Amino acid sequence: MKDPELTRLIISREEEVTPKVLNAMAETGDARLREIVESFVRHAHAFVREVRPTEEEFEAGLRWITRLGQYTNDSHNETVLAADILGISTLIDLINNDGMQGETMSALLGPFYRGNSPECCHGESIARSPTPGHELFISGRVVGLDGEPIAGARLDIWQASPDGLYENQDPEQADYNLRGVQTTGEDGTYLFHSVRPAGYPVPTFGPAGDLLKAQNRNPMRPAHVHFIVSAPGRKTLVTQIFTDTEEAMADDVVFGAKRQISGNLQRYDEPHPDHPGASLPFYTCSYDFVLKPGTPTFPVPPISGKARKEAEHA
Ligand code: BEZ
Ligand code: FE
Repeated sequence: MKDPELTRLIISREEEVTPKVLNAMAETGDARLREIVESFVRHAHAFVREVRPTEEEFEAGLRWITRLGQYTNDSHNETVLAADILGISTLIDLINNDGMQGETMSALLGPFYRGNSPECCHGESIARSPTPGHELFISGRVVGLDGEPIAGARLDIWQASPDGLYENQDPEQADYNLRGVQTTGEDGTYLFHSVRPAGYPVPTFGPAGDLLKAQNRNPMRPAHVHFIVSAPGRKTLVTQIFTDTEEAMADDVVFGAKRQISGNLQRYDEPHPDHPGASLPFYTCSYDFVLKPGTPTFPVPPISGKARKEAEHA
């Protein structure tokens, strides 16, 4: 309910601003929206009172936010990147996913999930154009909390190439290179063929990169492969399997790496009958995903397309 006195008030002092604004929003129909925006206004006003920005600083801050939108398009999402480098995405992730029931730990979605990846069969490669780097075979099972295999679980997989670019960033890679969807069989197993990922710098050509540079921060992410694992009657798991050193994980620019989702890479310098024809050396990584009961949900992809070659822009 609005306060009639605040409704009549015409602001003349700094202290009147917050109550006046909160009063103006007091009849928001949706209770959760009201809670969120009221809290945002209280904290934002408190931040402004603490920092007391100059008018020039305020304009610069608004320009930074405006540029987040201006740099966002079908193949690049600067807004998600900004939330990631500020630690907000990882905080939201940890608030909503604590892993306490024994389910696999989650990790932030990041800005490079496209959706609609091609289906790939058990054992198939997700490399769709010549991709440099050592071959990698990733396998494991999708199971429930009590270890029972989940048949028909869907794994949506994406990763950067060993030179550090996702296909949406790189016109030289085929559409959907290093992206694929695989469904588990009756025994809950999955297996796909890829290349060993490398750590990579997040894009630094926009306002998020300007901030990183001003803060003298390392722009690197540790090497990883992304997964969205889902099945009927299970909470969808958005996660990443890390294949890098502790040092690189601790220095993740988006604070997303977790020890619990570190994959053990095994290197092979000799041929192995399970992977005939693989070039040496090659790597394997085995990881079982544990899903807990829940309602499946699916993130809206932050991007939908691929960067085009210069000639295609003309
Ligand atoms: C990624 O892992 O794809 C990613 C996450 C956050 C920022 C940039 C990239
Ligand atoms: Fe990534």
